[in-house]
Amino acid sequence: MTHALPPGVSRRGLLTAAGALALCPTASLAVPREMRLRAAPDTVQLVPTPHPPTDVWAFDGQVPGREIRARQGDRIRIALENGLAEETTVHWHGLRVPNDMDGVPHLTQPPVPAGGRHVYEFGLPDAGTYWYHPHTRGSEQVGRGLYGAFIVEETEPPAVDRDMVWVLDDWRLLDSAQISGDFGNFGDMSHAGRLGNSVTVNGAMPETLPVRAGERIRLRLINAANARVFALRFEGLAPRIIALDGQPVEPHAPPGGRIVLGPAMRADLILDITGKPGDRHAVIDGFYPRQTYKLLDLVCGEERLREEPPADPIALASNPLAEPDVAGARRHVVTFEGGMMSRLGGAKLRGEYRDIRALMRQGLAWAVNGVVAHGHVLDPIVTLERGSSYVLELRNDTSWWHPIHLHGHSFRVIARDGRPTALREWRDTVLMAPRERVDIAFVADNPGDWMFHCHILEHQEAGMMGVVRVA
Ligand code: C2O
Ligand code: CU
Repeated sequence: MTHALPPGVSRRGLLTAAGALALCPTASLAVPREMRLRAAPDTVQLVPTPHPPTDVWAFDGQVPGREIRARQGDRIRIALENGLAEETTVHWHGLRVPNDMDGVPHLTQPPVPAGGRHVYEFGLPDAGTYWYHPHTRGSEQVGRGLYGAFIVEETEPPAVDRDMVWVLDDWRLLDSAQISGDFGNFGDMSHAGRLGNSVTVNGAMPETLPVRAGERIRLRLINAANARVFALRFEGLAPRIIALDGQPVEPHAPPGGRIVLGPAMRADLILDITGKPGDRHAVIDGFYPRQTYKLLDLVCGEERLREEPPADPIALASNPLAEPDVAGARRHVVTFEGGMMSRLGGAKLRGEYRDIRALMRQGLAWAVNGVVAHGHVLDPIVTLERGSSYVLELRNDTSWWHPIHLHGHSFRVIARDGRPTALREWRDTVLMAPRERVDIAFVADNPGDWMFHCHILEHQEAGMMGVVRVA
């Protein structure tokens, strides 16, 4: 039996009444947890003193914004308050939310004006490591510090001593420790995006992080940088990857010992601190040739937690994702072009063909299937039939790396350059190497118009974006 809302009873009153049911586990689906997020300018000590604090844009005065933690199957209601001097929205990256909760300005909701408020509410079908960030002028809004972790806990998580989140970011700072204001310059837009000079872990630059010999850590890595790709090595340790982009994967050692994370990508690791008290383990980022640096040292204190790594299982239970029928799937090709050193002569902009010089004069440099995106309201590059299986063959016809993100769905990465992948991992963002071809497969089961774009935010804003319609 359902309880209809009698006329005159406010939503607020209903919530308070329903709140009492929260103790009853069977009611948890119906009772949203409530939260508030306020985006506003603030200052944060990104760089250690004696450097001054940095002026940022932040959720609730923190970088990263406060960690949202919920349980699989929960419902959550989040009131966004916009204390910025410009419009914003929030996108729940990787969460399979209904289309009108997806936070894409003009496409799925009107942007929230300066001083405005907007309420998001959705259920959480999948456990895993996700994150949130604005989808309005992302290059600058995310680049100035607006992002946070969104963790959905499993009903039965693997046994660990600590569950740790590292939100990684890369900032372009001046000597004054202030953010360089050169957002959206054409060099960044048409090359590798806005690479910075200062990498932070959870909004700070720690040199060491205390760990305990024998400790088992679940480490959730989130790349919140505009453009930097990370490739992390844990010296002397053997991490195992148990989830990618929030979705469970067969536990495995990172290929080549490196955990590669393009912008927006996540990895959950099981990290056993083998070795003895007093050991140090450097965490090294070596993605870009000749730019290897040490992120920090894990330092074992005097305590020893146990002699041997625990024998407990580490595999995660899978999320309720529909399995694509790859053999029977319909196929589409999606070609990404443009950027410096490309053959792109021109592309369509708002329905009209423009040559590359004309596009560049408008700060545009990239195209998807021959169309340059300008704003979020676009004709779909493909229309998919709801409930059907699809393989999208993504072709990177550029000289650059691109982390390509699909909203509203997770997909399996089934082939690279025509060769089947070993793990057929689920992802919401797939990193394509220059000139690489990647096949992804999924069931188009979430209706609506969904963004499909490069998560190097400068590429996205310079045209590398499209809409996938599920109808
Ligand atoms: Cu993380 Cu379209 O975004
Ligand atoms: Cu890109």
